[in-house]
Amino acid sequence: MRKFLFGLTLLLTGSMSAFAQWGRPIDYSEGPGLKDAYKDYFTIGVAVNQNNVTDAAQIEIIKKQFNSVTAENDWKPGEIHPKEGVWNFEKADKIANFCRENGIKMRGHCLCWHSQFADWMFTDKKGKPVKKEVFYERLRDHIHTVVNRYKDVVYAWDVVNEAMADDGRPFEFVDGKMVKASPYRQSRHFKLCGDEFIAKAFEFAREADPTGVLIYNDYSCVDNGKRERIYEMVKKMKDAGVPIDGIGMQGHYNIYFPDEEQLEKAIERFSEIVNIIHITELDLRTNTESGGQLMFARGEAKPQAAHIATLQEDQYNRLFRIFRKHKDVIKNVTFWNLSDKDSWLGLGNHPLPFDENFKAKRSLQVIRDFDAARDNYVPKDDWVPNPKNQPGQEYPQVNSEGFARFRVEAPDAKSVIVSLGLGGRGGTVLRKNKDGVWEGTTEGPMDPGFHYYHLTIDGGVVNDPGTHNYFGSCRWESGIEIPAPDQDIYACRTDIPHGNIQQVLFYSKSLGKMQTANVYLPNGYGKVVKGKQERYPVLYLQHGWGENETSWPVQGHAGLIMDNLIADGKIKPFIVVMAYGLTNDFKFGTIGKFTAEEFEKVLVDELVPFIDANFLTKADKWNRAMAGLSMGGMETKLITLRRPEAFGYWGLLSGGMYMPDEIKDPKAVKYIFEGCGDKENPEGITKSVEALKAAGFNAEGLISEGTAHEFLTWRRCLYQMAQSLFK
Ligand code: XIL
Repeated sequence: MRKFLFGLTLLLTGSMSAFAQWGRPIDYSEGPGLKDAYKDYFTIGVAVNQNNVTDAAQIEIIKKQFNSVTAENDWKPGEIHPKEGVWNFEKADKIANFCRENGIKMRGHCLCWHSQFADWMFTDKKGKPVKKEVFYERLRDHIHTVVNRYKDVVYAWDVVNEAMADDGRPFEFVDGKMVKASPYRQSRHFKLCGDEFIAKAFEFAREADPTGVLIYNDYSCVDNGKRERIYEMVKKMKDAGVPIDGIGMQGHYNIYFPDEEQLEKAIERFSEIVNIIHITELDLRTNTESGGQLMFARGEAKPQAAHIATLQEDQYNRLFRIFRKHKDVIKNVTFWNLSDKDSWLGLGNHPLPFDENFKAKRSLQVIRDFDAARDNYVPKDDWVPNPKNQPGQEYPQVNSEGFARFRVEAPDAKSVIVSLGLGGRGGTVLRKNKDGVWEGTTEGPMDPGFHYYHLTIDGGVVNDPGTHNYFGSCRWESGIEIPAPDQDIYACRTDIPHGNIQQVLFYSKSLGKMQTANVYLPNGYGKVVKGKQERYPVLYLQHGWGENETSWPVQGHAGLIMDNLIADGKIKPFIVVMAYGLTNDFKFGTIGKFTAEEFEKVLVDELVPFIDANFLTKADKWNRAMAGLSMGGMETKLITLRRPEAFGYWGLLSGGMYMPDEIKDPKAVKYIFEGCGDKENPEGITKSVEALKAAGFNAEGLISEGTAHEFLTWRRCLYQMAQSLFK
């Protein structure tokens, strides 16, 4: 729907920005690389495989986006050193040399781990367990060899990986007995050496590399129990003089977990004992699993649903905001794999900012194009219920800066997304608060004026029960009104007389059915003055695609705008007729072939005669105007050019432009209005108005400040245009 609407915007206003955004797929990789966007924060890394450093296109992505590289598997002890005296350096060298050639520094992953390890170190030639001294000798040799070979290109080492036990196992069986679970993972390393192997590994690494950053790396650091176990272990080691410089938080998370608070708790806790934290293996599954365990659901490779993609973008956004906030201690953030295709989680988890075709996802843009000023900004606390709320509803609310905040009760929902949010960001994702209520605030101020919106709850579209409904996008949508500096022009004033809007039903012969129109009659209509009833000119005012005859009177506030203009003496009273423009029945992709011929019959041959027969009108073309917004502008242009005998004043509101040579008889029109928002295609409108003026037409333009293809633009247009009609 949205795509369609913006395609329409393009057609009507020639807006290149709208085109770039909606007309064809966006290249989200346009813009600076992540490493450049984060140069004042931390380095941005990626875990790579052999393909990634071989394929030219993938190499380009790495070079543009990242300034830190981790070998996903090729540096692991089991790969490099599978048997005593056997060293496989080929793949490891390839990655190291790629980094050396491109001036990228590496994280050395990893020197000591329970998995993908050189397990031969634990046994002798006959397969018998060795003493821990033998193991240490072998481990020392391994660490020295690897570190010496690569330390020129490595700035940090994951010395020990995953030595602590997971949450959720308060007890465990040891020698057939149930005992309180150890804080340590029951690895072969631990069983042979206790936690001394951790200290030893760090000591060996420090001997070999006196300056590299030595990291203890683990997953699920955001779990309460594991966080504390890691904290205690690292603290104990450091107190004993073990050279641990920092903690690596792997970051295998998902789109729901962790929340900011939980993540922050871990960062702050670890900051008490280290001043270097690396987020070493970031990816966001689209299911509810997390952690670095090697058993997991691989997901289905089907395309990611739109609401799931939005949740992922939002989660990346939230996590990076916390990372930025803690840049004093976070020194690196590394994505675990380059693309969804490479992901160890399987492509069906869609966990990364690049998709299975190595195309950037919107997540990349969200991570990259952050607004530092917004990071820790707290919106002004002058919230009021949205003026469009249903009686007694406190939410949604708006503040004087244009932020909107939402509250939705959906206790069993998995996700709630409000379609309204900062441009191009897919909406505002709500989070469940402690009382089980979904809450959230837009990331920044919204454009002033009226916006349609809806909720997406677990992928299904519903309205916000807080607000009234407004017909747009071919359905009744929720609506919100962001305070505008000039909201007086459509305010419902207590100090003036008001006109009224009547609904009339008329028979359309061409359609063979009844049609509805809403007719604004100014205050005083029908009064007998000096024995006579006054007659009025008429403006036929059309809505846009997806809307209907209620759109101008309700969300457009056409009646209030007229009342205010009349009361302030800015215009002489006239009638406004707002009928359904048959905009909503045709198929996607056929907008270019739209002729408005059906509506032309309804309007010119049926509705105009009906209005002239039933209301006190001045029934001639010099007392008749036609104007429309968006697709209604398209109709206006087509119909006024084909039937110049019907209307003497023409208005296009974000609804295209007239070229002077399209108007065969320059005397056919007394006044042309063209307007749009400054976020649409203001240059196009300005140029067209200039060209019309140069050709001798009485033309006027309006560029609405700070608005896009939305109702505040059109309210302002009506306010302006009305003042020049019927003169
Ligand atoms: C993973 C790799 O990505 C997979 O290809 C491999 O099969 C298993 O290991 N924690 C770590 C990483 O520290 O080394 C793991 O990498 C993921 C969990």
